Amino acid sequence: MADQSTPQKVKSPMNRSLSVSEEEGARLRQLLLPAPAAPVAAATLQDQVYCADFLQMAPCLPDGFADLVFLDPPYNLTKQFGEALFNQRSQHAYAAWIARWLPEVVRCLRPGGSLYFCADWRSSAVVQMALEQHLTIQNRITFEREKGRGSHKNWKNCQEDIWFATKGPRYTFHADAVKLRRRVIAPYTHNGKPRDWETSVEGRFRLTAASNLWTDITIPFWSMPENTEHPTQKPEKLLAKILLASSHEGDLVLDPFLGSGTTAVVARKLGRHFVGIEQQESYGLLALKRLELAALDNRIQGYADGCFWERNSQR
Ligand SMILES: C[S@@+](CC[C@H](N)C(=O)[O-])C[C@H]1O[C@@H](n2cnc3c(N)ncnc32)[C@H](O)[C@@H]1O
Repeated sequence: MADQSTPQKVKSPMNRSLSVSEEEGARLRQLLLPAPAAPVAAATLQDQVYCADFLQMAPCLPDGFADLVFLDPPYNLTKQFGEALFNQRSQHAYAAWIARWLPEVVRCLRPGGSLYFCADWRSSAVVQMALEQHLTIQNRITFEREKGRGSHKNWKNCQEDIWFATKGPRYTFHADAVKLRRRVIAPYTHNGKPRDWETSVEGRFRLTAASNLWTDITIPFWSMPENTEHPTQKPEKLLAKILLASSHEGDLVLDPFLGSGTTAVVARKLGRHFVGIEQQESYGLLALKRLELAALDNRIQGYADGCFWERNSQR
């Protein structure tokens, strides 16, 4: 008899989004660690993905084991993450939620370590005030977020912030590792020679210092090989900038809200260690699948030849 159920959606051949099959899930589930029941040494945590609630797991984490922390918690919006719904709340209540876990994150960061904290326009002020209580704020990065529909009643929302803070005034920052290869508009010459630009098959480019306004970020979408079904996945290129600027090879990066695993994946691609914590099993499995793929192919879209390329300018 013909199958009367709803026809399955056929995936377009252009759609490269990653998902975890039942078979892969059964294998990867064995690598996904549960929250530890007792304090854990830093060496045990290294390069592991935990399926746990960070608030419950935090007391088991040692002091100062992380060189760098990336924080991308749910923003103050109503959003479904796997089986959990995060509810929008008052700014006061969102600040109280952050205050429950931020001191533990700061305890895990070593003196001189850096922390990056993502926010949208609504939560950015709350994040700034929370960070001011614990760390030295160094900057606020704003990145252009091209994805999303326009609105008839308001300005289209196409930016997000990333607050950069450090534990103390002395910290690591590799400005030369995060230069941007930018198209030259005015190709000035000196004695007939290019001033500070060079010609390649794609045109004329110059290497410029990375600013706190990032216009070269592409939010993952279905035809990008890094894309997954996670609703708020950060691009690998964004994490690459942060890891290259604020860590050394061999350093350890902590991400307490790992999602689909972008921080861990980029850490692996760039020779850093990681600890990832994510409360939804399905996202933890995605992270583990991406980590296996990263071991086979360490390319990062938008980063090549030791620099970052303007959006859509890479060969
Ligand atoms: C904004 S997403 C992070 C996305 C991630 N940066 C990526 O690139 O995929 C926030 C994540 O935090 C997870 N989460 C929320 N509360 C958590 C908690 N208490 N402990 C651990 N993970 C949590 C959510 O399930 C969600 O996947």
